Parts: sequence; C-alpha cells; structure tokens
Amino acid sequence: MDYLEFFGLKEDPFKITPDLAYFYPSKEHNEILTSLQFAIEQKEGFFLATGEPGTGKTTILKVFIDEWKDKAEIALILTPRLNPEEFLLAVLEDFKVPVEQKNKNEIIKAFRDFLLGTSEKGKRVVIIVDEAQNLPDETLEELRLLSNLETEKEKLLQIVLIGQPELKNKLSSEHMRQLNQRMTVKAILMPLSMSETFDYISYRLIKAGKGIPTFDEKAKRLIHKFSKGVPRLINLVASRSLMAAYIDGNKSIGKKHVRYAIEHLAEGAKGRAGFSNILRYVLAAGLAIVVIVSGTIVYKYYFYSSPSTTLEVRADPKADKGVPVPEAGKEQKQEGERLAIVVVSSANLRPIPSLNSTPISWASKGVVLKVIEGLKNGRGMNWYRVRLSDSRECWISGETVKIQEQAVQYK
Ligand SMILES: Nc1ncnc2c1ncn2[C@@H]1O[C@H](COP(=O)(O)OP(=O)(O)OP(=O)(O)O)[C@@H](O)[C@H]1O
Ligand SMILES: [Mg+2]
Repeated sequence: MDYLEFFGLKEDPFKITPDLAYFYPSKEHNEILTSLQFAIEQKEGFFLATGEPGTGKTTILKVFIDEWKDKAEIALILTPRLNPEEFLLAVLEDFKVPVEQKNKNEIIKAFRDFLLGTSEKGKRVVIIVDEAQNLPDETLEELRLLSNLETEKEKLLQIVLIGQPELKNKLSSEHMRQLNQRMTVKAILMPLSMSETFDYISYRLIKAGKGIPTFDEKAKRLIHKFSKGVPRLINLVASRSLMAAYIDGNKSIGKKHVRYAIEHLAEGAKGRAGFSNILRYVLAAGLAIVVIVSGTIVYKYYFYSSPSTTLEVRADPKADKGVPVPEAGKEQKQEGERLAIVVVSSANLRPIPSLNSTPISWASKGVVLKVIEGLKNGRGMNWYRVRLSDSRECWISGETVKIQEQAVQYK
C-alpha cells in the first residue's frame, strides 16, 4: 500500500509546484490578486509585487492568468535574464506576432501594430515578468520605453513585474528612478498567519482527497513556527511529516512526526548554500531534535519493552557509542539477521529495485532497517528489500546503506 492509499488521498496534498486547483485565498494573496486585477482593469501601466521566496507569487500569477486569459493578451516571461532584443522577441513570440526582420526598429513597429490592433478589439495587452529581480538593467530600461507606447487617451501596454525583495531594492537605486516613479502599485506579499497556516493545511488535505490524515494542534503549531507561514516551507515540512506518520503506521500526524520532518529537512539543507536564515533555524532545530531523538532511543532501549509504534530509528552501535545495546536475554536474538543502516542524509524507499521507480518514502541517516533479501541487478548495483516498523516492505539502494550482520539485536 503506498502512502496516498494509506491516507485515503488521491494525490500528494503538499506538492511544491504552484497548482491552481490548490489555491488558498489567504487575506494577503487575495489582496495582491485584487490589486493586480484593479491595476489591469484601470490600465495603470506598471504593477510591482515582491515577496520572499515561496510565499506564493507565481501561484498568484497562475490564478490571475487563468481569470484573464480570455479578456487579455498575456505574455509570461519566466526566465528574464534576456537582453532587450531577446526580451522583445520572447514577448512577440508569446503573443504569436511574426517578426520577419530581427532589426530592433522592425520589432518595435510590429509590437506597436499588435498593441493598436488588440486595443481596438477592447482587449488588454499584459506583459508579466516573473522572477523579475533577474532582469538586466538595460532590459528594465527597455520596458520603461515600451510603456511609453500609448494613445492620446490611454496606455496600450500593462507591465507586471513580480520578484523577490531585491527587485524592490534594485528599483529604488538612483539609476532606476525614472522607472520606479512609474510603479503606481507596489505590493508586498507577506507569509500566512498562524490561523491561516492551520486553514491552509486543512484546505490542501481536503482538496487532495477525503482528508483522512489529521494534523493535531501541536503539529500545526510547530509547522507554523518552522515555516514562519511561508507556503513552500509549510508544504515541505507537512509532506515529510505525512511520510513520517506513514512509516510510523499512524494516520494522525503529531508533533513528533513534524520534528522528525524538520530534522530530515535540516539534513538535506546542510550542503545547500544561500538558505541563510531558514537554514540556521533548521540546523538549530535539527540539532535539538537529534538530542531529543537520541534521548528517546536510550529511553526505548532501556525502559520500554512493548512493541515499537514509533519510527524505526535504531542506533548503529558502532557509529554512536553513546547509545547502549539492550542486555542479552532481554530481547531474543535472531541468527543470520542483516541490517541496513542509512549512510546518506536521505535514502529513497522504493516499491521495486529500480532507480526509475517513484519513491514511496524516505529514511534519513542513521535509520536502521531490517533486510529481508538482497540482489544485484544487471548493472552490478546492490538492492535490499527492507521491512518498515509496520511490516510494510520496500527496496533501498545499496549505495545509500551500510549492511551490518547481527549488529543490533531485534525482538
Ligand atoms: N495561496 C496559496 N494557495 C495554495 N498554495 C500556495 C499558495 N501560495 C503558495 N502556495 C504553494 O507554495 C509553493 C510556493 O509557491 P510559489 O512557487 O508560488 O512561490 P513564489 O513566491 O513564486 O516562490 P519563488 O520566489 O521561489 O519563485 C507552491 O507549492 C504553491 O503551491
Ligand atoms: Mg515564483
């Protein structure tokens, strides 16, 4: 049974690609969307919106484009590292305006004809630049010149710039003064509040299926604390928390699952540069969680003898001398047992022994799994079929684990 089936969901509720069907109209998202619509309706010329990474800027654009696709001609530029000519050609291509000559004057003339023709039909022409912080200065200047294309009565072209906060800083610089003055609307997208984060999680779960998994209040609070209300981070941690609960065989997601997810994200983020504040927080949280998890393991080995219902995290005694192995006789030793100890920050667990299969879950470094069988494929790659704590079975690549014979005693 894969994890979606386990939770009664038809798809992953916390995908990190912007998806129209999952749009949650928070107060902030709604405000930006409304002011964008108003700016286009009123032919304001320029619209600027900035926000931290992952706050939902591209998602808002998708909603806007969906609503306006029949009322306007829209060119969407997603990779704006283009010089002025390349930029103009990309825009005309989006508008399906054929340009025979690549001479700049010809291009501008073709564009002006298109603007006038579309305006006569009563349609708006909108150029949207996502990730606009990457626009070179000379292309921004070209946009300013384009915005001069107007009739005596009205502006022919609406320009929407969306980007990260550095875009606003860039436009505030002295040499951008002329352009900056034309930005009549400047919006900033803020993250979700605590109560919106709670609603957002429930909303996505309901959209993805019957909403069987439930995040308890403490779990949701920790998600908000970790993510600071940034939807992409909410998705990342909520998705991994679901996985943790699935491995645990639990349909209710608690704080321990969220902690585990945060620890896992910290492992993944360790090597990444530029994750600054969040990374620092994650690493600090991760460290705290490692201490908590180690404490829990010690507790479980020494004091807790009933079957485990938590994640199958068992310490490798060689790697971690601080964690004691249970006394002989307390647990029944099984001869010939092999264990796979995860040695990479995150190892995929797959339904079949193939890298082409979609992982059903993951295990982080130090997790110990019981090996049922091993095989070598045609390309000499080792695979191990392993058992999870709720008896489900899956495959893990030999590249991601160290195999140990009878190293830890099992019940
Ligand atoms: N209002 C929302 N409703 C539903 N999902 C959202 C919303 N806002 C953001 N998300 C989700 O958060 C994730 C990040 O959103 P998005 O890509 O739109 O952010 P962004 O601000 O464009 O980020 P970046 O600056 O990195 O481009 C996506 O998975 C998206 O589905
Ligand atoms: Mg984006």
